[in-house]
Amino acid sequence: MDDTRRSFVKAGGAALAAGMTGGAWGAQDKLAINGGAKVVTFPAAKVTALTKWPRYGASEKKALHELIDSGKFYEELPAFEKEWQAYTKSPFVKAHMNGTSATTSMYFALDLPPGSEIMVPSYTFFSTCLAMRFFGYVPIFIDIDPKTACFDLDDVKRKMTANTKVLVPMHSWGMPCEMDKISDYAKEKGLIVLEDAAHAHGASMQGKKMGTWGVMGIYSFQASKVMPTVEGGMGMYQTREYFERAAAYGHYEDPIKFPKDSPVRAYDGTGFGQKFRMHPFAAVLGRQQLRGLDERNAVVKKNIQALNSRIVQLPGLAEPRIRPDQERSYYNASMLLLDEKKAGFSRNALVKALQAEGVRASVWDYPEQHKLKIYSEAKWWHHAPKIPESMPGTTEVNRTHLFLPLLHGEVPELIDQYGKAFEKVWAHKSELAQI
Ligand SMILES: Cc1ncc(COP(=O)(O)O)c(C=O)c1O
Repeated sequence: MDDTRRSFVKAGGAALAAGMTGGAWGAQDKLAINGGAKVVTFPAAKVTALTKWPRYGASEKKALHELIDSGKFYEELPAFEKEWQAYTKSPFVKAHMNGTSATTSMYFALDLPPGSEIMVPSYTFFSTCLAMRFFGYVPIFIDIDPKTACFDLDDVKRKMTANTKVLVPMHSWGMPCEMDKISDYAKEKGLIVLEDAAHAHGASMQGKKMGTWGVMGIYSFQASKVMPTVEGGMGMYQTREYFERAAAYGHYEDPIKFPKDSPVRAYDGTGFGQKFRMHPFAAVLGRQQLRGLDERNAVVKKNIQALNSRIVQLPGLAEPRIRPDQERSYYNASMLLLDEKKAGFSRNALVKALQAEGVRASVWDYPEQHKLKIYSEAKWWHHAPKIPESMPGTTEVNRTHLFLPLLHGEVPELIDQYGKAFEKVWAHKSELAQI
């Protein structure tokens, strides 16, 4: 045990004996931000190794080498599609070069009249909202629920017009949107449901994988994603018609493979003008990564649960809400939400104090799509999108969240130190209010 650690144990013991709250911490243990010793003494290099992403190993390297030697590049694509299809239990899937191209193909496949309105979150990546532009569709920006960071059905109800045709919920950070309620409402109103499942590999609701609730959906396998192939994407389709149209859009050699009665079969050799095929190296990585997906998700979840079950006891700190029938995955980081009033200090003060203690806490605001230039210029759109004056749920999530890293390994000692750091900070609530 080094000196720093020994002094913590000693100080913690004294604090406990004095019956102090906030775990073992008391006012005599200075916050690191005020010159005290850091709680997290776990070696930084090991933390970096545990949080490294993407994680490729011997199996990915071997499979890539084998593909290069074999030269049978394109055989990897149907092989990956077959495995992903079996994993997600989706009737049809199509491997794409990225999530954006899968999204563009999905919007093409809709085949709706120009001017049709598609409801999308503003709290998302650009392609959810922007790729529809090429087909004359108009984004209607929908808020997120500040407790779930997911698509707010009440906002959908408020913004419905006679032109609204499609809903596109996005499962933020791997948290499933309430697809049962969204689907029921869509059915009642005759709307089409699509999904942006770019964050949600392995996530499900009522046992059904995300991306298979909507008639079409997409995944991204970009380097930061839960199942990374560096670049890559997948289209998910529940009907043959949508599958064939979406696949034909950017896969010029596919139409001939469709049954004789397919309306897009005659477009073999051209498709509809794009070339969106996945790179075979990405398919190789995807096949390898899929094998370990559930196991990696389980390790991450176990670590988050061990820490969160402890720290959400602290006043004002909460996880985004998840229903018992939803199985979430964790994309990129673990999100926590801070109620500053209940905690008695600001989110920014908390993050600074945690960082000083050695916790890799961070803040990252999703750029709100509706505020970006492209949506405000009518010339790019069939009908100019309506820019909402406010998006309270989106603003709230950006204002109250903090992120903790995902830990890819069994590290009870580090998790305990993270827990202690949070408790120490809360024990110094009044000092934090000054920061
Ligand atoms: C929510 C969301 N949708 C779609 C995409 C598009 O995926 P890609 O980067 O593979 O084009 C991303 C990727 O960042 C995303 O985060």
